[in-house]
Amino acid sequence: MKTLIKNGRVYDSKNGLEGKYDILIEGNKIFAVEKEIKDQGYQIIDAEGKIIIPALIDMHTHLREPGYEEKETVKTGCEAAAAGGFSAVAAMPNTKPIADNPAVVEHLKLKSEKAAVRVYPIGSITQDSKGEVLSEIGTLAKTGVKALSDDGNPVMNSEIMRRAMEYASAFDLPVIDHCEDENLSQDGVMHEGYHSTIFGLKGIPAAAEEIMVARDIVLAEMTGIHLHIAHLSTEGSLNLVKEAKARGVNVTFEVTPHHLLLTDQAVEDYNPDTKVHPPLRSERDKNVLVEALKAGQIDVLATDHAPHTYEDKLGEFDYAAFGISGLETALGLLYYNFIKTGIIDWNDLLRMYYYKPGEILKIESEGLKQGSRADFLIFNPEREWTVDKNKFKSKGKNTPFAGWNLKGKNEITFVGGKMVYDDRGGKNEILY
Ligand code: DOR
Ligand code: ZN
Repeated sequence: MKTLIKNGRVYDSKNGLEGKYDILIEGNKIFAVEKEIKDQGYQIIDAEGKIIIPALIDMHTHLREPGYEEKETVKTGCEAAAAGGFSAVAAMPNTKPIADNPAVVEHLKLKSEKAAVRVYPIGSITQDSKGEVLSEIGTLAKTGVKALSDDGNPVMNSEIMRRAMEYASAFDLPVIDHCEDENLSQDGVMHEGYHSTIFGLKGIPAAAEEIMVARDIVLAEMTGIHLHIAHLSTEGSLNLVKEAKARGVNVTFEVTPHHLLLTDQAVEDYNPDTKVHPPLRSERDKNVLVEALKAGQIDVLATDHAPHTYEDKLGEFDYAAFGISGLETALGLLYYNFIKTGIIDWNDLLRMYYYKPGEILKIESEGLKQGSRADFLIFNPEREWTVDKNKFKSKGKNTPFAGWNLKGKNEITFVGGKMVYDDRGGKNEILY
């Protein structure tokens, strides 16, 4: 049975598509993309007034399994991804046990076989992500990890980071670093600045991130590896990366929707859902990141989807867990704030949220063309909706965007030729 998606507005400039096209799917592949495909008894989906793009790839997701199934499971995290318009996520290794050995990676692979979207494992840089002893990087590479990271924990020891980079280069794996100098961040809970002083909360200075970004750039330059900086959040970090790129250093970086949309001011009512690593930064940092977005200087957009339980986030701000559940709001927020307003266009979004992550992780990301995997989303630009965390597929209801009114929403996600999410008429249904 073939499925024909009719009358959608398709964006995928890499494949020369911009405008109305019909898309025919057979099995798990795209059979044809043409101006008009005649119905020959196909199953029809009418996408009149809708936008069709390749489904997104989130290269920074915490799925929490094994070990923290109360926060998220592979199943619920992948359902959240499907609802958010993703066809694939890369899973960070800070599970319990940490993904520092083949058993944990194989476990994740097994669990994700039946999941709504594809999962690409990331292996830890050091054993137990303690930053002391390297993981068996060669073994991890053989098990199929797509990158190395101790995300959640910085690798404080520069010698260890150097060796990790050398091993990573031998196996052609990128190193993704969570840049945080723990001696500077200590037990800080929000960005250090005017607002932390006013709110009486311990601050994390921008320098805690920037020092590690600088160190990693120096090490990447020395070892020649591909360094990817996770959740870059400050103007200083951005300047360091720009200078390094200009020198030819192989460095890329990602920015999260929350760092593009919120500042440290958002902490004012002590809402634990605004507590995240790196912290929401100053107005100036945010504005500089948005300028970079506009100028096409951001490599990757990624959620850092970090689901936590209600209890983890309960109580005083100082004691709440760090993290934001981001998969189900990312696309809606980016569309409403940056595409609809003309700051970026759909092809810019695809560059940062599909093609570049695909290139960095070296995973299939050929877009909408004949013979490629049928991974796409159907977006309704007219749909008005309010972020309701109780409707999240994710177990993590920890979003600072609850109650935000948005216009434009993902309505259908196809992964490998199968409709895995359907929200037409507000169904909010996972199908697989
Ligand atoms: O806020 C965060 N939460 N930042 C990280 O880097 C890790 C993440 C988590 O695992 O909860
Ligand atoms: Zn991190």
